Amino acid sequence: MELVERESALAELAGRARRAQAGDGGLVLVAGEAGVGKTALLERLARELPDARWSWGACDGLFTPRPLGPLFDVAAQLGGPLAELGQAGAGRDELFAALLRQVSEPGVLDVVVIEDVHWADEATIDLLRFLGRRLKTAPALLIASYRDDGLAADHRLRLALGDLAALRSTSRIRLDPLSAAGVRLLSAASGLDPAELFQLTGGNPFYITEVLQAGMREVPAAARDAVLARAAGWTRGRASCSTSRRWSAPGSSRGSSRRSRPARRRSSTRSSPPACSPRTAPPRAAAGCASGTRSPG
Ligand SMILES: Nc1ncnc2c1ncn2[C@@H]1O[C@H](COP(=O)(O)OP(=O)(O)O)[C@@H](O)[C@H]1O
Ligand SMILES: [Mg+2]
Repeated sequence: MELVERESALAELAGRARRAQAGDGGLVLVAGEAGVGKTALLERLARELPDARWSWGACDGLFTPRPLGPLFDVAAQLGGPLAELGQAGAGRDELFAALLRQVSEPGVLDVVVIEDVHWADEATIDLLRFLGRRLKTAPALLIASYRDDGLAADHRLRLALGDLAALRSTSRIRLDPLSAAGVRLLSAASGLDPAELFQLTGGNPFYITEVLQAGMREVPAAARDAVLARAAGWTRGRASCSTSRRWSAPGSSRGSSRRSRPARRRSSTRSSPPACSPRTAPPRAAAGCASGTRSPG
């Protein structure tokens, strides 16, 4: 799918990657509400930089997040000493140092993505601090995505990111919902009233794509109707997927009690639809349900 209104974010990321390739590495923080397109943007960047070595880790919205889960995701993709140390049960200092050494190898641009760090365990936040401070002379980019809606002022992640953001080697990208013009573009072939769709979804791409994929001819009275209609069709064919995943709300994905969003511009009387994203997950998205589905993160 074509990404709407993300040209400048993509250009900024691509420029940052070029600098990293030349040995001026660092951290990129990609923030935005659930469903705004953080993952889609990074997947697009990955397609534009096929020569880089990409590794992806994801934080899960579990009540007991796996300590250093994203680091082990990355280790499994990078292989080498990091993976060996991980399998041998090495301590975190050794693991952090091994990851730094591996992504600092000259000759190839390493891009390490850690998604949804608003769910990161404390050790993963320490990993962000560790790597974020040490990549400035490495041919490597660490990209961390997170939801900034509903992150408390004293959240440990916010404090860590505040420190990291002060570094010259750190860049920040904030994704906003699509504008009315963007929604019009995205829905042009659908026959839907773009103004109504914009009002209903607040420009949140996840909700827009749900409504569009539901194949409706008119914008439904509530986004819930569209998502439920889509989900009903999907559920019939995917009975094995876990119920909690299937019906988790976008803002409370995987059972957490996070405040649901989107649509700051939407009428407060409308209810937020549940997320039941019937799309196929990218191969690396291990956090989705086993049959390959995901909610926005
Ligand atoms: N700029 C965009 N233009 C069109 N579709 C988009 C855009 N951004 C995201 N989408 C679609 O919206 C859905 C949610 O995006 P996703 O990247 O999963 O959100 P996030 O990671 O921020 O939760 C996906 O289906 C994605 O393809
Ligand atoms: Mg995501």
